[in-house]
Amino acid sequence: MAEPSGILIKGGKVVNEDFSVISDVYIEHGKIVAVGQNLQIPGGVRVIDATGKLVMPGGIDTHTHMELAFMGTKAVDDFHIGTKAALAGGTTMILDFVIPQRNKSLLEAYDCWRKTADPKVCCDYSLHVAVTWWSDKVKEEMQTLTNEKGVNSFKMFMAYKDVFMLQDHELYAAFSQCKEIGAIAQVHAENGDLIAEGAKKMLSLGITGPEGHELCRPEEVEAEATQRAITIAHAVNCPLYVVHVMSKSAAKVVSNARRDGRVVFGEPIAAGLGTDGTHYWHNEWAHAAAFVMGPPLRPDPSTPGYLMDLLANDDLSVTGTDNCTFSVCQKALGKDDFTKIPNGVNGVEDRMSVIWEKGVHSGKMDENRFVAVTSSNAAKIFNFYPQKGRITKNSDADVVIWDPNMTRKISAKTHHQAVDYNIFEGMECHGVPVITISRGKVVYEDGQLKVSPGHGKFIHRKPFSEFVYKRIKQREQVGKPTAVIRKPYEGKVIS
Ligand code: URP
Ligand code: ZN
Ligand code: ZN
Ligand code: ZN
Repeated sequence: MAEPSGILIKGGKVVNEDFSVISDVYIEHGKIVAVGQNLQIPGGVRVIDATGKLVMPGGIDTHTHMELAFMGTKAVDDFHIGTKAALAGGTTMILDFVIPQRNKSLLEAYDCWRKTADPKVCCDYSLHVAVTWWSDKVKEEMQTLTNEKGVNSFKMFMAYKDVFMLQDHELYAAFSQCKEIGAIAQVHAENGDLIAEGAKKMLSLGITGPEGHELCRPEEVEAEATQRAITIAHAVNCPLYVVHVMSKSAAKVVSNARRDGRVVFGEPIAAGLGTDGTHYWHNEWAHAAAFVMGPPLRPDPSTPGYLMDLLANDDLSVTGTDNCTFSVCQKALGKDDFTKIPNGVNGVEDRMSVIWEKGVHSGKMDENRFVAVTSSNAAKIFNFYPQKGRITKNSDADVVIWDPNMTRKISAKTHHQAVDYNIFEGMECHGVPVITISRGKVVYEDGQLKVSPGHGKFIHRKPFSEFVYKRIKQREQVGKPTAVIRKPYEGKVIS
């Protein structure tokens, strides 16, 4: 039987980032057409009873790496499986990263990502682009990507020495170009030189297991780079977005910078909010290796709670996952040398539940802040709000119906991802997505996915996001240094 064209969600509590209200939501042709009490809709539409449930904007995962070729292998969640898993977890849009090889064209890499992803994605998606080397051509291509290809965010690596890492003067040039074209500069903030030295030292001490991954790059290696990126961004008046904030020290640097008035945003990820780095010391190698990612999870077990507090109070702004999954046999490339363990963890399916459990169920944040940090803030920063990130008339019908009273246990046995373990294994989560709607279609219901590859669309993002750039533009106008007008010096000058 053909699906009815309209969907009426009745009696749920509509939760936006600023307030909640019991309301009906009517959806037609991929859009939210009406939000209000007791909507009178003609017959022939599907009616979903959402009494006792929350009706929220679908999650937006700001940070994924589907099928990324990395460290000698390829991430197992591809754009098809990865976006299916996202939908099963209540996420209706992902932002993935184009990562060109050094000396290769950014535009060609972008085309390649689009060709791979477009036919496979089951939910909407967009692309950040990484700047992995610097030249006039890169500078020009950044402009083209922004003007013509719907990209308004560029990631620069301060780690992965000799692979993706940029030097400070290159960061300066890349940030300057971001400011010029109205893009957001993103950084992977870790000191790549110190990591390289630290890794040599650990190996020379005979530390070859996953614990070496954290020991060679302690918190201050992340905090130093975070501070340096903020300083460089401030020098050129460029907005900065720090991806995967993993430590208390780095989070404090972001938080202090915000209090000093810097336009900077910090992105903790599900892994960092839901688990910690003590696993690197587990005596089973495969268990420990599963958690290897950069920057590492931190062994201080109070880290996740601390990051959640900062997220709840707007010191940190938005959440992603860095979903970049390698199965155990791929992780095993580094069985004798931790520097060869492919870096990456899961999260795209479980982010919403983990944040609900550790954030909302724990009482650290309310349901509205949950919407802000899982959806609306991402849409604002990356400039597609209120097309997404809000339940309101004319917004895209990307919706999750959430049961705050249901619980589920996370497990690799039941997840929809391709990876053969789950770093949140056994976590009992309150808050379950019962129905996910993408582009006006019910794509997940009763634990079943009803998706088709290519259903998702690429979301073009315009530059100069107001949420980010209003302050930058004003500062540019009023903040220019001026010379002191003085009489010329007329005394002697040493010859
Ligand atoms: O370990 C990670 N984070 N893998 C993906 C690449 C990156 O740095 O984001
Ligand atoms: Zn990174
Ligand atoms: Zn463990
Ligand atoms: Zn990443």
